[in-house]
Parts: sequence; C-alpha cells; structure tokens
Amino acid sequence: MAKGKNATVFFCQSCGYESGKWMGQCPGCRQWNTFVEETVIRSTKSSINIARHAENKPATLSEISLEEEDRISTRMRELDRVLGGGLIRGSLTLVGGDPGIGKSTLLLQVCQNFALDKREVLYVSGEESLKQIKIRANRIGDFNECLKLLCETSLEVIGEMIRALKPDVVVIDSIQTMYREDISSAPGSISQVREATGMLLGLAKGLNISIFIVGHVTKEGTVAGPRVLEHMVDTVLYFEGDRHASYRILRGVKNRFGSTNEIGVFEMRASGLMEVSNPSEFMLGGKPEGASGSIVVCSMEGTRPMLIEIQALVCHSNFGIPRRQTTGTDFNRVNLLIAVLEKRLGISLGNCDAYVNIAGGIKIQEPAVDLGIAMAIVSSFKNKAIDDKMIAIGEVGLSGEVRAVNMIKERVQEAKKLGFTACIVPFVCKDSLKEVTGIKVLYAKNVGDAITYL
Ligand code: TYD
Ligand code: MG
Repeated sequence: MAKGKNATVFFCQSCGYESGKWMGQCPGCRQWNTFVEETVIRSTKSSINIARHAENKPATLSEISLEEEDRISTRMRELDRVLGGGLIRGSLTLVGGDPGIGKSTLLLQVCQNFALDKREVLYVSGEESLKQIKIRANRIGDFNECLKLLCETSLEVIGEMIRALKPDVVVIDSIQTMYREDISSAPGSISQVREATGMLLGLAKGLNISIFIVGHVTKEGTVAGPRVLEHMVDTVLYFEGDRHASYRILRGVKNRFGSTNEIGVFEMRASGLMEVSNPSEFMLGGKPEGASGSIVVCSMEGTRPMLIEIQALVCHSNFGIPRRQTTGTDFNRVNLLIAVLEKRLGISLGNCDAYVNIAGGIKIQEPAVDLGIAMAIVSSFKNKAIDDKMIAIGEVGLSGEVRAVNMIKERVQEAKKLGFTACIVPFVCKDSLKEVTGIKVLYAKNVGDAITYL
C-alpha cells in the first residue's frame, strides 16, 4: 500500500478489507465485486488526539470508581437489559438495523427519557430536517428543554458543539451521513465511517459522554463499513424484526459491559415503540383454539424463554412432487423431521404437501422446537387437534429419539406462568424437572411417545 500523503486504497464495502489493488473477490469475506477505490489523505493529526483535550492521565485500578451512578437507566427496561443494566458513561454504542425498522424512533425515545431525568441530550441528525424530527417527536409525546437537536453532517462542527455543550448523551443518526472534511472520500465510505467513529470514540472517552451511533445495514446484512465499526465501539446492538409484524427485537451482539445473551422486545405502535415485557403473551395473541396442526413451543431468546405457536398444514398433493414450505424455521430441518416421521412412525407423507409456519413472523433456529414441529405435522395429518393447554419441548434425532435441551426448567416454568397445564419434555430431562409442580410434565423418549399424547 502506498504510504504517500494522498494514497488511493481499495476497500471492501462489505467487511472493510483494505488492499492496494483492485480485486474481484474479497479475501476477507469472500464477497464478489465489493472493492471501491477511495483516496485517503493520511492526516498526521489522528482522531485519537481528540482525547487529549480532556485531562487524561494514567490511573491505578483502585482509583477507578465503579459506583452505581456509572450506569444510567434509559427508563426502558428492555433496553437497559440489553445494555447490561443501563447505559455506561463514556461508552460508544452502535445501533444497527435495516432502514425503517425504528432506530431513529428508539433513540429519540431514549433521548426523551434522558431529558426527563434532567440529563443534557444532543440528538444530531444527518438524515432528517428539524421539522421531520419534530413530526416524529409529536407522535412520541412530550419533550422538555434538556433535549437539543442539531442537523449537521460535518464532524468537525459536531465535535465543537459537543465540546461546548458537554451533554451527557449524544445520538449520531446516522454514521453513514457523517463526514470529516480532512478526508476526501464520500460520506458512507469505509474511510469516512472509520475516521468518524474514531473521532466519536475519542470524544466519548475523553469527555465521558455516552454516544449512540446509528448504522444502517446493507443488503448483505452488515452495517456499511461494519466490521471496522464493530471492533471500535463498546456495544453493538441490532434492531431486527419483520417489516410486516409490529414487534421488534433488539439484540446485543457485542457488549463490553455485560452479557450479549440478552434481547429486548418492543412493539411499534402509532405513538412510537412500546416495551413488551411479556413476549410470550404477545406472541401467542390470536392463537386459534381447537385447530389441528397448531402447537405451542418454548424457544430461548438469550436467557429469556419465549412461547411461540407453530402451525403446520398437511394436505393431499395435487402434483407429482409434494410441496414443502417453511416460514420462520429451517427448511432442511423440517424436511428431516418429515423423513423421521415417515421412517420411524410409518406416517406416509410422500403424497402430501406440508407447510410449516412460525406464527408472529419470528425466526427460530433452535433445535428445541423440533418436537413441536413434528407434532404439529402429525396433528395436521391426522386432523386431530392438540390440547390448547399443552406445550412440547425437545430436539428430535435421526432415530426419532427425543433429546435433551438446555434450560428445560426455565422453559417449563414459563409455560406454567402463562397458564399451560401440560408439557411434553424429553425423558432424559427427568432429573432436572423433579421439583416442578403445578404443571403436568409428560415424558417422551421418542416421537412415538409424544404422539400418543395427541
Ligand atoms: P424510523 O425510526 O424512522 O426507522 P429508521 O431510523 O430505523 O430508519 O422508523 C420508521 C418507521 O416507523 C416508519 O415506517 C413509521 C414507523 N413509525 C410508527 O409506526 N410509529 C411511530 O410513532 C413512529 C415515529 C414511526
Ligand atoms: Mg432513521
């Protein structure tokens, strides 16, 4: 790579791989045609220098305080949970997600809450005008004077503003629109995104300000200039969900201050995002009663059990090759379960179409829902409804055996909490469920056993 003052470098737009020459395929992420040429002015003034504006000196471990105060609550329990118990002062948080999923809405609500707690908040938008933000804010509710809005894309101006205002929390919406004047490449390019984040990192650490950065996800499912960003920030949260469904899941992907095993569930309403503190209840809303092919399963989302309805429809195939279709779950897994049912239980599905759907538009990859899928298929095939108050948990192996799943107790307890009266679980989990009372626990060694409870 050229080391001159004005060097041209090729960057992979997908993973940030840097190369001196153009390449068809990126050696980093194996994507094709992702290299873009960018001129980089290697400025001698590095972004890290910004930290020097603050009083920065070495400290011993005992001098560093870890008081409760260091975490500030966002007044949203779902968000606090994902952040590991609140927002850390001086942290840099990246909120990624598809365009239109609700990132700006979420962060504006966070600003509203911080402002209510009399914390100075600065919301910088490079995407919307002040009027547009006001229209959105009017839908969300009342705001007080602690929230300041700024429409700006130049990081130099933003940096000066932050140093002058010294707010507690800053939101940068979005990083792809921000640019530094001393870098000639276009906003949203890898070098701009990287330098911009570096500068914000310096501001966050130097002035002890918590900064949220919004990052858009590109078609490939990564924030543009993504990996470059992910390792620089303290926390990476992804906001995901189906456009057509109203619920949204905020997932922690990286967290330097807590577990990444947490999710927060929200619902998009006309008046902004509402927290869903009981996702199971939310997911089971609208479940038909006494319908064949429908069963409730329990999937773990992080450390949270979530009850979800699985629906199957098996009907006679009018064509030579039967149709198999799945929504929200792995297609191959369903095919495998159908093969197990054919071979081990002698249920002949060879001339039947089979459709499997996870209700609510959620996606589950967990094997613990296998038993539920298998039972839903058999229920629909035999046109025999499964007890509405029964759930099934278990992984199904190739010999038709029902295998153990993790956190079985939490799952059964969640079912009990929501008023289910019976639960089919793997026989091998018998020991872990000894103390569970108040719900009938039915053990199954293989799929055949489970089917007898139909
Ligand atoms: P937005 O926060 O602008 O998404 P992002 O910043 O991730 O691009 O959310 C936009 C969507 O949310 C838009 O389709 C309208 C919807 N919405 C509501 O349904 N209710 C509301 O109160 C608000 C503010 C937005
Ligand atoms: Mg937005």
